[in-house]
Amino acid sequence: MSMSMMPLSTDACATAIGELDITSLPLETRFPPFRLRQYGGFWLLEKFLQGVPAVHSIFEPRPSDVLLASFPKCGTTWLKALAFATRNRAEHPLRGLDHPLRRRNPHDIVQYLELQYAQSMGHVVAALPSPRVLSTHLPYSLLPGRITAEESGCRIVYICRDPKDAFVSSWFFTKKTVAAAAARARTGEEPPPYTFEEAFELFCDGICVSGPLWRHVLGYWEASRRQPEKVLFLRYEEMLRNPESNVKKLAEFMGCAFSVQEEATGVVQDIVELCSLESLKNMDVNKSGSHGPLAHESFFRKGVPGDWSNHITPAMAERLDKIVEDALQGSGFTFDVREASA
Ligand code: A3P
Repeated sequence: MSMSMMPLSTDACATAIGELDITSLPLETRFPPFRLRQYGGFWLLEKFLQGVPAVHSIFEPRPSDVLLASFPKCGTTWLKALAFATRNRAEHPLRGLDHPLRRRNPHDIVQYLELQYAQSMGHVVAALPSPRVLSTHLPYSLLPGRITAEESGCRIVYICRDPKDAFVSSWFFTKKTVAAAAARARTGEEPPPYTFEEAFELFCDGICVSGPLWRHVLGYWEASRRQPEKVLFLRYEEMLRNPESNVKKLAEFMGCAFSVQEEATGVVQDIVELCSLESLKNMDVNKSGSHGPLAHESFFRKGVPGDWSNHITPAMAERLDKIVEDALQGSGFTFDVREASA
């Protein structure tokens, strides 16, 4: 492992982040429209990285905060919708026709912390009423100690997914994003400037947004083992299999467990239904419009576990599985849900 790929401890990063000169970091430009910079052992979106120093120096977590953390394409949009709907069910009744999720895309409701600060919108985060639901694509090791410390009180929910499905999902997402950028620039439908096979190679090398995926996941999984009251670790596949019990787990963890009456009157099912892929995908707000350069509709595709087998050859799958298995060796973590205990 080269020095530049070594993950830094949170403290080491916090010191270094204060003096961070992003332009001096290794740059990866093979993902237009995304530019990646390597920092703390991860390839991070340059735009997001710009907000990290302020997240460390200015952001003040509150004990009631919930931070939703994820590697891109692992179910972030769904988790945002579920957490927001669950946390705010008293203020926003789920059957109400004016529920925020019917009017706004989940990414416009639950914003990325580091992006907000990168866009000088920290005051908006600070002005949000409690309890706040925030999100991040940052690895655990790059979160400020003020968030990760037990005494901060704020809680973290992480969602992980089979790396092969995350890769396939990111391929289709990037293709759509590039096509949309081309359309805006009136150059027509342009394919990504790299092939599926090239993207796969880069992903296997950990060169992708927030990559490598396995290191990102491991950081949060280990934290959830050390501090189960503070970090809830969820699996996308498990949530699809059993959404209701996962929503209950989420509510309990966020400190807003469902009452017996709520359960009896179908509140949990209402949340699952409102936030389902079909429901969100078919809302007008998600059929048009965009979140920055990303079209709302690009966040919703198939949501099928194992869809990778329609796109990745068995040899490619075996190769990626082996890379992941080697990287996770000795950690006790596995993506294989049949073997997993978390
Ligand atoms: P697929 O591309 O495999 O369909 P993220 O939200 O982190 O960008 O992840 C995107 C993936 O989550 C996509 O997977 C997308 O279809 C799926 N997804 C989005 N909304 C969902 C929902 N409400 N329920 C289940 N899956 C959802």
